[in-house]
Amino acid sequence: MAAVALGFDTLRWERDGLVLLEQTLLPAEERYVRIPDVPSLVDAIVRLGVRGAPGVGCAGAYGMVVAVAGAADAGEWLRRLDDAEATLEAARPTAVNLAVGLRRLAARGRRLAAGDGGPAEWTADLLAEAKAFHAEDAALCQAIGEHGAALLPARCTVQTHCNAGALATGGIGTALGVVYAAHAAGKQVAVLADETRPLLQGARITAWELQRAGVPVTLQCDGAAGSAFQAGMIDAVVVGSDRVAANGDVANKVGTYPLAVLARRHGVPFYVAAPTTTVDLDCPDGASIPIEERGGDEVRAFAGAAAAPDGVMARNPAFDVTPAELVTALVTEAGVLESPDRAGLTAHCAAASSG
Ligand code: MRU
Repeated sequence: MAAVALGFDTLRWERDGLVLLEQTLLPAEERYVRIPDVPSLVDAIVRLGVRGAPGVGCAGAYGMVVAVAGAADAGEWLRRLDDAEATLEAARPTAVNLAVGLRRLAARGRRLAAGDGGPAEWTADLLAEAKAFHAEDAALCQAIGEHGAALLPARCTVQTHCNAGALATGGIGTALGVVYAAHAAGKQVAVLADETRPLLQGARITAWELQRAGVPVTLQCDGAAGSAFQAGMIDAVVVGSDRVAANGDVANKVGTYPLAVLARRHGVPFYVAAPTTTVDLDCPDGASIPIEERGGDEVRAFAGAAAAPDGVMARNPAFDVTPAELVTALVTEAGVLESPDRAGLTAHCAAASSG
């Protein structure tokens, strides 16, 4: 299958430093920023300068290299490694991929420090591990895309929510990876994208990257999805995930659960596209997934201007949980798992890690 060329890097390692595409500025400006230290990376993750579950996983992995670079001795190198793991993991709680990336790099770092060499060699080896993690994520996205594309009809409209595209991962994306792979395979796929209040990842980011890729995209207000289902406009829902619990419950951007309910009501398949690095078998169910609560000002204001009376109470959960029973199939790099449940997910993840 032809590769999809998007013409931008969500993140890259360049001249001994981490560089991120600053996503809060999109679509007005495409600006790349250098991340000099761990506090700057925490700030970027919290502000959603870099975002999306696999995207923050890759950024966190490189952040571990930023943390240890230049350490004077073994003690300082290990101290910086430990501190960075704890500080970065606390930046955003819902996406398990951040912890997965950090733990992998921390484990590698501890093994390196227990062996030969010194801080400079260990840092070089740790960078190789971060680059490998990033490259693996790109390969996972490609495989998810190809498995998911096979589920879509030759002509279809896909409803998505938030951004689970190249800007959310180290590759072509998960949900949008499915769209890009279908497009590359010659299918006529169009996307209906929710704007995704309050931070407009659908409007600012999904619409931006789909337009650049030449995939037809129509934007709608989040509340317009119901009428699109009633009008028979939607052939499939494809979304990403921040964490899939062991019983198949799925956390994703707030507003995903209502789409799953609508999809069931209207007999439309609801697909979740995510790598097995997003499956958390240690998390028993959706109620155990930590849901990030963000500040009310993001709801009270819109594009920097007040959108509600000063001081009104606002709730701002960043994610919601879709019960497994509403998920038609989970699409991972290992293939398509229909009606995911505890037994199916356990076997699916075991097959993914052995193959
Ligand atoms: O708050 P965000 O923008 O990081 O939320 C992103 C999402 O909800 C994505 O759908 C999810 O992380 C999957 S990204 C492949």
